[in-house]
Amino acid sequence: MNGSVELVPSVPDAFARLVAAALAEPRPDRFSLFLSGGSTARQCYQRLAQVGSAGSGVSWDTVDIYLGDERCVPVDHPDSNHRMIAETLLDRVGPVGSDHPMYRSGSPSSAAADYQAVISPLPAFDLVHLGLGPDGHCASLFPDSHALGVVDPSILVVANQDPNAVNPHDRITLTYSGIARARLVVFTVSGASKREAFAGIVSGSDLPAARVTADRIVWLVDGDAAGDTPLPPEA
Ligand code: 6PG
Repeated sequence: MNGSVELVPSVPDAFARLVAAALAEPRPDRFSLFLSGGSTARQCYQRLAQVGSAGSGVSWDTVDIYLGDERCVPVDHPDSNHRMIAETLLDRVGPVGSDHPMYRSGSPSSAAADYQAVISPLPAFDLVHLGLGPDGHCASLFPDSHALGVVDPSILVVANQDPNAVNPHDRITLTYSGIARARLVVFTVSGASKREAFAGIVSGSDLPAARVTADRIVWLVDGDAAGDTPLPPEA
């Protein structure tokens, strides 16, 4: 696996404190924050809205919000990642620098091409948040899926599906080349349902999340997910 592992009592709290600190650091320019979907992400963003609220030193009006993956459903659909991000974070922290939903309508492939045009001018992605699925996926990079084989470094976003039909909906997702543009990737892994996938990644299994590369990768893992997996030494 790539990156360092931090065993934490609360993944949402550790995530919120890490991200709020990164956002509050003095910087000359804007901050590109790529967010995830899923129930762990929901809890992380609820906590981030609290930790990163007024007085935290976070200037949300210079933070540009992007997504790492999205379901191809309308923005008001209950399964929309952007809807979850808006409800848990954007509607609570006030105006952000910019907000870039990944899917509104139309074909997945055209939506992916549109998003490629949105993010390819960025010099780097300051922070990319990734969850871990019980099958070892991250973003919408599912086992045995087409997107795993997209290695052209210029292709940052693709349409994808889960061939094993575990994860619903057509998807848009960052590719490994897209994720590799991150200055920092933060994985959040919480709950016993992730124990097998996390243990597999630590032991070298070629699960989709294990292939992620970036300048720096941090895994925030709680005890339920870590189980008795021997953790790699701090990188
Ligand atoms: C999605 C997510 C996905 C998620 C993991 C973990 O759109 O579903 O981006 O990659 O992060 O499946 O989700 P849970 O935290 O709900 O287990």
